[in-house]
Amino acid sequence: MSSPQNVLEIKDLHARVAQTDANAEPIDILKGVNLTVRSGETHAIMGPNGSGKSTLSYAIAGHPKYEVTSGSITLNGEDVLEMSVDERARAGLFLAMQYPVEVPGVSMSNFLRTAATATRGEAPKLRHWVKEVKEAMNELDIDPAFGERSVNEGFSGGEKKRHEILQLGLLKPQIAILDETDSGLDVDALRVVSEGVNQYREREHGGVLLITHYTRILRYIKPEHVHVFVGGRIVESGGPELADELEANGYERFTAAAATADTQGA
Ligand SMILES: Nc1ncnc2c1ncn2[C@@H]1O[C@H](COP(=O)(O)OP(=O)(O)O)[C@@H](O)[C@H]1O
Ligand SMILES: [Mg+2]
Repeated sequence: MSSPQNVLEIKDLHARVAQTDANAEPIDILKGVNLTVRSGETHAIMGPNGSGKSTLSYAIAGHPKYEVTSGSITLNGEDVLEMSVDERARAGLFLAMQYPVEVPGVSMSNFLRTAATATRGEAPKLRHWVKEVKEAMNELDIDPAFGERSVNEGFSGGEKKRHEILQLGLLKPQIAILDETDSGLDVDALRVVSEGVNQYREREHGGVLLITHYTRILRYIKPEHVHVFVGGRIVESGGPELADELEANGYERFTAAAATADTQGA
């Protein structure tokens, strides 16, 4: 199958987050992120907690609390920052959030069909759709009874993550951003979820931005590119060997260097 070549390009991105207290100044989090993700490529962004990884994913997805102050994000040359959240989804961007939201009163099956209708531009034919969802649920070991439950309500951490990957398989985006998809999963769930991501890569030839704190998931999903993310920017990029180094030595070499750079810059 030949797929079009899609490119997500992030250039010198700076962003800040609004604080809960509306009178407080927003905090600068992203400090110059440069990253290009193409169809068929898998990039892992790895960094300590609080380094701004989720902020990057929200900035790409268009979360209203995260304000881009400078730099650019484009998808196939189109200005993503000019697009509404829906337009970004329709353009082929997908975000699996670190903390998926619960939507009481909306069943999973309704939610999925509405999302598929929005991204595909027309409602999927009901008979095909039922079959499609059933197969996708089966592959992810999701009990079909889940279709009738409210979106993520009362789901365990692992069930929420499976639901995110179910959406990925059904919505078939061009570029998928997976924020800590491994957190809270036991080994069996991790294997199932990783298999879902790998199928998406093979079938859709999609680009994947895998955001993670731990190297564990990289045993199942193999990235060609690994980026170390500290203090709101990528401080080093390399291949899988960089993840091996992080597994062995942790982030200290990078956090220490970033702290020194900050002091010198001040
Ligand atoms: N809504 C928010 N209000 C205040 N501070 C925030 C908010 N979101 C993120 N931050 C702060 O921004 C920094 C980066 O957060 P985040 O992007 O979640 O990092 P990561 O995903 O790498 O753990 C942290 O110091 C966090 O406390
Ligand atoms: Mg995070």
